[in-house]
Amino acid sequence: MIVGNWKMYKTIEQALEFLEKILPMAEESSAQVMLAVPYTAIFAAKERVKETKIRIGAQNINDAFEGAFTGEVAAHMVKEAGADFVLVGHSERRRYFKETNAQIQKKVQRSLEVDLFTIICIGESAEERENGKTEDVLKKALKECLEGIGKELAHKIGIAYEPIWAIGTGKAATKELAEEAHSLCRKVIEELWDAKTADMVPILYGGSVNQENADHFLSMENINGLLVGNASLRPESFAKIISDYTMVHHS
Ligand code: PGA
Repeated sequence: MIVGNWKMYKTIEQALEFLEKILPMAEESSAQVMLAVPYTAIFAAKERVKETKIRIGAQNINDAFEGAFTGEVAAHMVKEAGADFVLVGHSERRRYFKETNAQIQKKVQRSLEVDLFTIICIGESAEERENGKTEDVLKKALKECLEGIGKELAHKIGIAYEPIWAIGTGKAATKELAEEAHSLCRKVIEELWDAKTADMVPILYGGSVNQENADHFLSMENINGLLVGNASLRPESFAKIISDYTMVHHS
């Protein structure tokens, strides 16, 4: 799974231009290529990639079914617009919009209710890592975000481990550090559900992934894919990451 997170970048026109360039490569790849695009581009992007392997998603949803929440968008709305998946709990949402694990858990429920594949983002801050809190933070986030979600829904869930200090900083984690966090996440999911189910859940690494380091991460046992911000904005770098996935998984 290679997931691009465009954040607040790209108009409809720019999105379509990007897709035109990336489509041939995505079609050939063994990776599931997914793009979390701005709400405004979901419909047009989906129309373009229908009948292809690319999946389109939203970067957020509200935690209510519907209501008087000016400016917000509900799960069934992004679904209707064409989204196949949604990101929830991205660290930028937690930081700038004060989202909590409890709120993210509600978003997970909303998203699953309308059958969207749901990628839950978690990760520790630099301070938490320095103070030896990483394990606690990841465990707590996973338990709280997945609270009350039955294992029969596990096939609709992915986890993105994104250390906050690595996002947008150019300072990616080492593959060993990421692998350690991923295997911890796998263990927590196993405790929540069971080993077989935990093996099924894709755990993606995110945080300053680029065309130079993507293959390092992908070679690790518990890293099943990547969540890519900055490097997903240019077709050249994103294409290279997709082809690295194919290479690593065929060798
Ligand atoms: P980055 O962003 O690749 O630019 O570090 C990752 C993300 O925020 O998902």
